[in-house]
Amino acid sequence: LPISSPPGAFLSPPQPKDETLLRLLADQAPAIIWTTDRELRFTFSMGSALKNIGVAPNQLMGMSLAEYFRTQDPDFPPILHHRRALTGEKTSYEFNWQNRIFHTRVEPFLGPDGKIIGTLGLALDITERKRAEAELQESERRWKAIVSQAPGFVTIMDEEGRILYINRVSPGYVMEDVIGTSTLDFLLPSYRPIARRAYRKAFQKGEIVTYDVEGQITKDRTAWYRSRVGPLYRNGKISSLILVSTDISENKRAEVALKGSFERMRQLAARLQSVREEERQRISLEIHDRLGQALTGLKLDLSSMAPGAGRENRPRFKSILQSLDDTIRAVRKISTELRPAVLDSLGLKAAIEWQAREFQTRTKTTVRLKIPARDIDPGPDQSVALFRIFQEILTNVARHAEARSVQVDLNRAPRELRLTVADNGRGITKKALSDPASLGLLGMRERALPFGGTVDIEGQRGRGTKVTVRLPQGSSRREP
Ligand SMILES: Nc1ncnc2c1ncn2[C@@H]1O[C@H](COP(=O)(O)OP(=O)(O)OP(=O)(O)O)[C@@H](O)[C@H]1O
Ligand SMILES: [Mg+2]
Repeated sequence: LPISSPPGAFLSPPQPKDETLLRLLADQAPAIIWTTDRELRFTFSMGSALKNIGVAPNQLMGMSLAEYFRTQDPDFPPILHHRRALTGEKTSYEFNWQNRIFHTRVEPFLGPDGKIIGTLGLALDITERKRAEAELQESERRWKAIVSQAPGFVTIMDEEGRILYINRVSPGYVMEDVIGTSTLDFLLPSYRPIARRAYRKAFQKGEIVTYDVEGQITKDRTAWYRSRVGPLYRNGKISSLILVSTDISENKRAEVALKGSFERMRQLAARLQSVREEERQRISLEIHDRLGQALTGLKLDLSSMAPGAGRENRPRFKSILQSLDDTIRAVRKISTELRPAVLDSLGLKAAIEWQAREFQTRTKTTVRLKIPARDIDPGPDQSVALFRIFQEILTNVARHAEARSVQVDLNRAPRELRLTVADNGRGITKKALSDPASLGLLGMRERALPFGGTVDIEGQRGRGTKVTVRLPQGSSRREP
């Protein structure tokens, strides 16, 4: 029974057949149908939605609208609209009654002669639909709030990255222009393949993919973004993609700055080492040459004076000469310790041999040396670095290893210079190896680093420690 039938057509007068149909409709449709006379007294009411407001069919018969709604207010919507219907108007309104929401339509009710004999009303209970709508609106409102407050960009896009929705645009862009363009266009060209691969993976496999890209934010500003792209489902199938991008430029800048400051610290450390080395060399020469020569001269003078001295002074002369000898020896030792002359005069190989001998004599630890017969000369800077590393290794053996013997191998392969020192002591522990306070070990690594070199240290408990130093040679060598 269409509502669009001519007003009153389906009710005047009800035929038995029509009535059955009407009952079915009234029982099943969530609606209320009624008629009133010209005094707005109910003449008929039925419909399954009557029970929603606690009224039995035809319970209203004879009651006026004002009585039912308990108001005389002419502006009360039902009264207002029914009055308008009496004037021939068809009206509709939404009305909230007994916690239900009704979409109500009131029309003039025409008698057989076409005169208005009352009103005809139809109310549909739309509470559930309204509730669903409200929920939808609420969830949309919530999602919009989240998205508008989210830092960065939230984009819904198709498989190719074309923007269907975006929560915001950067200054200088217009939302309408941005919709429909590809997110890829906003990336620096070199990052587009990364994003494209991520989109494909998300769309085809339904995975969430995270990646970092650099984007062109305005004509002259780029920014780093951490992006997450994932699938958006409709009816169980992936229909589009959701992309969330947050600006991580600050972190990136901090990262780069940190790397830079590390690098500068390294350079400073390396520079300090070389300054220290030059200083040592200079002082060592000063002490050796000037002090050594002066003392030697003094000794010669005194020796020549000794025969002329009186007998009673002889023992004193002797003891002075003796202590002069001791002093000269001490000066030589200090000078050598500062910077072994052998390193500068005879080179790395000789210096290593000399240091190994010294160590053996001093510590009574057997040193077995394997050094190639031919000369090894990686240049003065590398020679000094390797020699100092070697000294630190031996000092550690003496101080920590409790070893009986040490095996030293110096090797010149075509592409690298390799020094291994293995002791048979107690073995360095994992803890000592990873301890940031192990500055001696750190120093060895830093010494090798400017030449692209490495220092590997392995310890075996009770079996000893092996240190391997590698300095790349030839074309692969990095300039310090
Ligand atoms: N050959 C070795 N055998 C056993 N333990 C070792 C050996 N070499 C180093 N270690 C352990 O590693 C630690 C760190 O060595 P590192 O050279 O960094 O420091 P250090 O020798 O104690 O002090 P320094 O800074 O004066 O060199 C040592 O304290 C020691 O415990
Ligand atoms: Mg040490």
